[in-house]
Amino acid sequence: MDLDKLMSKHLTRAFDPSKTIPAETLQQLLRFLRSTPSSTNIQPNHFYVLATAEGKERLVANLGERFQDNGEKILNASHTIILTTRADLPDSHIEEVFSKETADGRFPDPAKRALWQSMTRDFLNLRKYGYKDLNHWMEKQTYMALGMTMMAAAELGVDATPLEGFDPTSVDKAFKIRETGHTTTVLLALGYPDPEKAYTGPTSRFDADQLFTFL
Ligand SMILES: Cc1cc2nc3c(=O)[nH]c(=O)nc-3n(C[C@H](O)[C@H](O)[C@H](O)COP(=O)(O)O)c2cc1C
Repeated sequence: MDLDKLMSKHLTRAFDPSKTIPAETLQQLLRFLRSTPSSTNIQPNHFYVLATAEGKERLVANLGERFQDNGEKILNASHTIILTTRADLPDSHIEEVFSKETADGRFPDPAKRALWQSMTRDFLNLRKYGYKDLNHWMEKQTYMALGMTMMAAAELGVDATPLEGFDPTSVDKAFKIRETGHTTTVLLALGYPDPEKAYTGPTSRFDADQLFTFL
């Protein structure tokens, strides 16, 4: 990965509609997305991978009136992922995580497993009743998966642009997402840039002395 190149690169706003991510590259990226970690291994996500014109058009038709400018980006991108997060955290989900960890052999020692499960429940109760930020906390996990996947895409030579410009209520309704217990958090458009339309000006970020404090 060429970090210097990445540091001066604009996020892609104009994708080349004639280019499609090869199947194996997409699968590798999705394997990576599946592998991203989450706090207490809570895994609060479900991902909708839109590869077809029909899927992308359904998303574009439901972005909401004020977000129409993102439509072309999605239609021209090779793929767009809808990253959704659990809208609540029922005990059945926590049990599902524990069952999978047991099946995968994460904690072969029953005492260690019991300790982990009790610490997890304690932490989740703190988020729910103490800090009262359970949904926000789960969405933070989604953003971490988003950021890591953007970096993985760069490694694979794929441009990845996150999109927050959409109406989540409308997108949830169009894909019947709330019915699954999830809600849309953020979109990720993936593909290859249209070189004719790429921004070429400098990127603008605060200077390092404003950003870093060394102690
Ligand atoms: C989380 C996130 C959401 C974004 N959502 C949108 C969006 O909906 N539409 C869009 O055109 N750009 C979107 N952007 C791009 C930012 O506006 C852009 O990265 C920022 O203005 C800096 O521009 P640069 O990447 O060209 O330096 C998003 C970027 C991030 C990190």
